[in-house]
Formats: sequence, C-alpha cells, structure tokens
Amino acid sequence: MEPEIAKAPIIVVLISGSGSNLQAIIDQVASEEIPAVIGAVISNRPEAKGLERAKKAGIPTATVDHKNFEQRELFDANLIRTIDEYQPDLIVLAGFMRILTPDFVRRYEGKLLNIHPSLLPKYPGLHTHQRAIDAGDLEHGVTTHFVTTDLDSGPNIIQATVPVLPQDTAESLATRVQHQEHVIYPITVKWFVQGRITMSGDTAQLDGVDLPQSGLPLESPNTLH
Ligand code: GAR
Repeated sequence: MEPEIAKAPIIVVLISGSGSNLQAIIDQVASEEIPAVIGAVISNRPEAKGLERAKKAGIPTATVDHKNFEQRELFDANLIRTIDEYQPDLIVLAGFMRILTPDFVRRYEGKLLNIHPSLLPKYPGLHTHQRAIDAGDLEHGVTTHFVTTDLDSGPNIIQATVPVLPQDTAESLATRVQHQEHVIYPITVKWFVQGRITMSGDTAQLDGVDLPQSGLPLESPNTLH
C-alpha cells in the first residue's frame, strides 16, 4: 500500500476589491511561512483587482457576481456551490463586502475568518476610520476574528492598535491600519492551518487556551510567531 502523504490544508479566499490582504497571504504561502495551498480566489465583483493578483500567482479564480441574483439566499447558495468545488479547510474573507446569510455562516462556522478595520466590537460595518476620527478616539486598529451570524462579529483572534493622530484623515488612518492588517491576517491564517486556533463557543482559543475577548494584542510583529 502507498504511504499516506499528509495533504496541505486548502484555503479559499473571498474578495471584493483590491486584495492587498490576499496578496499578503499569497506571499506567505509562496514563502511557505503559511503551510497551505490557496485552492481558489472567489470574488463577487468581476472587476476586483484581487482577481489579477490571484491569476498572477497561478491561483484558480471564480466570480459569483451578486448583481446576477435578486435574492441574497440564491447568491449565497451559488457561492457555497462554488466554494465547495475546492473542498476548503478554511475560508478567508479578505475585504469581502457582502453580508452573508446565517445559513452560509453556519455551514462554515469554525472555519470562516474575517478581518475588519476597527477594534471590534467597536464600529462594525462601513466607514470605520472616519467614525473613529469623528468620535475623537485616540486609538484605532484592526481585528481578525471567527465569523458568526452577526455582521463583523464573532470571537476575536488578533487585534492590532494604531494611534489616531490629530492631523489624520480617513485615508491616512486607513493606510496605517492596513499596514497592520498585512501583519495580523497572515499570522491568523498560519495559526489556523497549523491547527493552533479554534473557536469554542464565543471565544477563540490559541493552543487550547482562551484568548481575551478583544483578541490577542499585537505588540510587535516579532513577538507573534
Ligand atoms: C480591508 O481594509 C479590510 O479590513 C476591509 O476591507 C479592506 C479590504 O482591502 N474589510 C472590511 O471592511 C470587512 N467588513 P483589500 O482588498 O486591499 O484586502
């Protein structure tokens, strides 16, 4: 009998836009920092720049255009069919700007990750940078989390904090936050495919230990491996 060769975990990444987080993950899969393969990149927008990034890296792509579906349920059912063709171990939402139905979320619960540009539970939804500035917050940031049925919610995994400076605009703050996104999302994905992070009820665990509700704070990129 042939010896069984351990199969690398398969990731499917869902995007809607630029795909800079996707790129950070592609780069770390290519350098074998993340021990997995990206089975496919799926977009709900045919013009998403992230699709080009995927093609350039030789990753299969698919588009499920939400405009072709009158009902969210039908869009999600089609998305599920497309995702399942690749039999993923992990689904990564990387700037996927669609609200998902509870059926979709429940189907992939525990293996569905998201990144959101705020210190969740603060500011779910859109315009997070402007909202932090308008509120006079001194700190803002980004969170990786398991996805549950509520918008931009679910057990936090890693949270990176950045200062809000007096002269900040939403754009300058977004740039500072995105820099941290590209640090914490690849680490989160790596830990997942290594089997180190799991979801246990409303808490994420790292190596079997509950993470704080706010997620593990990113102190310095070098302190997290
Ligand atoms: C990122 O800033 C991500 O945090 C945000 O979309 C952007 C996608 O950028 N996600 C959300 O707002 C989810 N609610 P990218 O396409 O360059 O990775």
